[in-house]
Amino acid sequence: HPPLRVAVLGCGVVGTQVVRLLTTQASDLASRVGAPLELVGVAVRDADAERDPVVDRALLTTDAESLVERADVVVEVMGGLEPARGLLLRAIAAGASVVTANKALLAQDGPTLYAAADEAGVDIYFEAAVAGAIPIVRPVRESLAGDRVTRVLGIVNGTTNYVLDKMASEGLDLDQAVKEAQALGYAEADPTADVEGYDAAAKAAILASLAFHTRVSIDDVSREGITSLTADDVLWAQRTGHVLKLLAIAERGSVEDADGARVEGVQVRVHPALVPAGHPLASVRGAFNAVFVEAEAAGELMFYGRGAGGEPTASAVLGDVVSVARHRVLGGKGPVESRYAELPVLPATAA
Ligand code: HSE
Repeated sequence: HPPLRVAVLGCGVVGTQVVRLLTTQASDLASRVGAPLELVGVAVRDADAERDPVVDRALLTTDAESLVERADVVVEVMGGLEPARGLLLRAIAAGASVVTANKALLAQDGPTLYAAADEAGVDIYFEAAVAGAIPIVRPVRESLAGDRVTRVLGIVNGTTNYVLDKMASEGLDLDQAVKEAQALGYAEADPTADVEGYDAAAKAAILASLAFHTRVSIDDVSREGITSLTADDVLWAQRTGHVLKLLAIAERGSVEDADGARVEGVQVRVHPALVPAGHPLASVRGAFNAVFVEAEAAGELMFYGRGAGGEPTASAVLGDVVSVARHRVLGGKGPVESRYAELPVLPATAA
């Protein structure tokens, strides 16, 4: 099979590690895919910026539009709504399979991308958009597709988990701990997205959409971050046998409509919660993430691992690249999100 051309959009913390894995694992990837993966370009905003030497400068381009049109697989790790959205739509229209880590975009406008991919007959994969290295998107999207999920409960933001952990174990204040998380490459470019719960809300929306086969946007998620928590709150939780965690929760529920009839649906929220010290989620330390899933036939499942950082996130991206590339080599494609809308999404504030 001829080489598959891979374009990478974005070369930040995650993009650099994606390029490193594509380069250093090239021969293993080729044998797993059944064709070599040829990195044809890396789109950046500033081609002259200082970068890790693993990134071949000759591959850098500021012309992302034309790059996506000469690729079979487009990997988007730039983040943000635009230009990422326009570039992915352009890539899909040109027949490329796409892999994205962009949780903000999927939580805002995933259905547009899913429908475009469905129409073009190409794959869209996004394992890295939720909980970094942890395989959680595929299990919820594929492995549990024959079951009936009742609840998803998780720690899906590494920065806030790191911050709360440091406040509890070392008595750091919130700002100090956030600075450490930034230095370690866990925080978003603007850490407000982490500490105010937007990042977790985006991931909750994506997971809820997959788990309940419906369309949950970030605007449907009720959200409270950790900025109002003090060292005293953290210590008080400890003294009462709890650990404070920022939890993302999606579950089946019901509300009363205007005529007094019960409407069944899914409700999604993110807020700090007191987790009993003996609960498995209480032992999730540092930037680790964990997601509990409850399903009728499967029962309880727990997924645990590194939820932030360049290398763990790049691992998930590369797994997706291998999947979509294999589909191109062997024929066939993965699941299609645009065909489902099972449950109503209930008002975020009606809990
Ligand atoms: N800022 C995110 C976190 C990175 O802290 O979890 C992974 O999405």
